[in-house]
Amino acid sequence: MTNSFDLTNLLRDNIRKLTPYSSARDEFSGTASVLLDANENAYGSPLDTNYNRYPDPLQQQLKVKLSGIKGVPPRNIFLGNGSDEAIDILFRAFCRPGMDNVILVPPTYGMYEVSAQINDVATKKVNLTADFQLNLEGIAEAIDPHTRIIFLCSPNNPTGNSLHREDVETILANFNGLVVIDEAYINYSRQKTFIQELTEYSNLVILQTLSKAWGLAGLRVGMAFASEEIIEVFNKIKPPYNINQATRMLALQAWVNLDQVKYWTRHTGVERDKLATKLRALPFVLHVYPSDANFILAKTTDPRAAYNYLVEKSIIVRDRSNVALCEGCLRITVGTPDENTRLTDALNTFTSEH
Ligand SMILES: Cc1ncc(COP(=O)(O)O)c(C=O)c1O
Repeated sequence: MTNSFDLTNLLRDNIRKLTPYSSARDEFSGTASVLLDANENAYGSPLDTNYNRYPDPLQQQLKVKLSGIKGVPPRNIFLGNGSDEAIDILFRAFCRPGMDNVILVPPTYGMYEVSAQINDVATKKVNLTADFQLNLEGIAEAIDPHTRIIFLCSPNNPTGNSLHREDVETILANFNGLVVIDEAYINYSRQKTFIQELTEYSNLVILQTLSKAWGLAGLRVGMAFASEEIIEVFNKIKPPYNINQATRMLALQAWVNLDQVKYWTRHTGVERDKLATKLRALPFVLHVYPSDANFILAKTTDPRAAYNYLVEKSIIVRDRSNVALCEGCLRITVGTPDENTRLTDALNTFTSEH
């Protein structure tokens, strides 16, 4: 692997040639007293808050706020309708259907593969090692001239661990396509984000989301951090108003309560470690994997029976036992202290009844 990264080579021809849609709010974004340019309803909305005006297509206010928190200029930020939108845009911008491929490192987040299939892009799979780390040699062998993107997830879903930083850096330094690091669970991690590395690696795309630690999954806000050139490509392709006005207003309000988020995040870490200890003590739990996220992967003797038992008790976890390298595994999200106690109580009765 040697890195001679060139974004223009990577970009699909049709996207390079694309003249993006120019919305009313792109063409006039200042303040004016009479707005008759977007065929909106000038009277207002049948609600307490008015949503009759189209929102800012580039969400500058949100990005300025985020910029302060993340330490990245707004021009290096893309906001999407969940990070799933950013994943889909990556395929549409950089992968030619039926020609190109991406590398996935299972077990990992399922949307990379689904998005690849939707976009008719082949996936080359290089499984993680037994301790859920990158198989660097396998990845180097899998790369071919049509490999456009390598998707990494750290902390990884569903395994919960962070990838070794040096391994990720080796890939960044040597692969001349895009390296996507999905940091959906970074707030819970003992490792630091790769955001500071953006200035060093022009092929780096970092994904984060407000759906996890921020507690805003229902609002749908995903973030991509990358070079200005890559963010321009995202902006060219995205639907003009992909973040709605209600979402952006609520996200701005949420930032006022940053301390609350920090408090929950810290406590989730403490609860995670307590839960891991309790799970380890259960006889049907064979192994509890170390977690850097807000969930725990546990290998059990009979995942289906435990899953069904918990469903009967109205407790839902995720059965991941049919996923590569996760045989026998349940993925358990860390809940509130009460929820975690209900879970461990139920698992104790499961043990005594089985
Ligand atoms: C690793 C990872 N990335 C992305 C997402 C999706 O995030 P969003 O809600 O921003 O689409 C998830 C959701 O479970 C995830 O686990």
